[in-house]
Amino acid sequence: MEREQTVAQHYTHGSLERAILDALAASGKDLDALAPADLAPVDELHIGGRQATIDFAAQLDIGPGLHLLDIGCGLGGASRYFAHERGCRVTGIDLTKEFVSTAEFLAKHVKLEAHICYQQGSALDLPFASGSFDGAYMLHVGMNIEDKARLFGEVRRAIKPGGVFGIYDVMRENDEGELSFPVPWASSPDMSFVESAATYRRLLEGAGFVVEKERSRREFAIEFFHQMRARAAQDGGPPPLGLHILMGASAPQKVANMIEILERGLIAPTEMIGRAI
Ligand SMILES: C[S@@+](CC[C@H](N)C(=O)[O-])C[C@H]1O[C@@H](n2cnc3c(N)ncnc32)[C@H](O)[C@@H]1O
Repeated sequence: MEREQTVAQHYTHGSLERAILDALAASGKDLDALAPADLAPVDELHIGGRQATIDFAAQLDIGPGLHLLDIGCGLGGASRYFAHERGCRVTGIDLTKEFVSTAEFLAKHVKLEAHICYQQGSALDLPFASGSFDGAYMLHVGMNIEDKARLFGEVRRAIKPGGVFGIYDVMRENDEGELSFPVPWASSPDMSFVESAATYRRLLEGAGFVVEKERSRREFAIEFFHQMRARAAQDGGPPPLGLHILMGASAPQKVANMIEILERGLIAPTEMIGRAI
């Protein structure tokens, strides 16, 4: 699909493994003794980073030994969190080839490859048999996917009845105003599909989920960016290891636009937890 290629292109860096290793070394990390959490400044590509993943995981009813599907896994920060900290087995799928190969490389580097596998593919056409997973989650991916009814239908098919499906996406809080671009998930409006929580709820229910929980993380996000800016001002710029590596030259503009539309009340990162009927 042409749109999927545009999205994958948007996220492709070109020499990501090298850039991450260089930044880890520049921030004083011993590359031969890395822990999964050392990667968190660069491998959690969503608002609030590692803390947001911890908070999100606390909302999910999951335990050790479950097999989870990570939809749009990116560099795999959340998959390594669920494997390392929660004892789950995780399969990650992502459109962007370079993210999948880098996720594999990083999982091997922190010795988690026996618990996680990554695959390149589309969330709209999941290459898994029905009922393959005990549960699924998706962090900051729905903003790139227009056909959310199909997305949720595919997730519902891939997980077992009773399985949990956790979402942490940027959602529309208010329709009164246009979003500014670029933002971290889209260079232009043609690859951005931010919807309201009400739309997510309706489409999840239509796909065979009961929505059990919903929580706007607006205040958390505003505080997160406030602290990020304060740290950068104090240190005279961002630290060597950060999401600017993934966002390229337009990183400052993407982040500034995102903060602006968050503060204007147009968007908010939001958790929604469903259960497959
Ligand atoms: C903002 S990143 C989030 C990555 C990861 N979930 C995280 O939180 O670190 C969005 C990811 O969704 C992936 N993505 C977008 N559309 C997709 C689709 N249709 N199928 C699979 N992955 C997709 C992108 O390639 C990208 O890795």
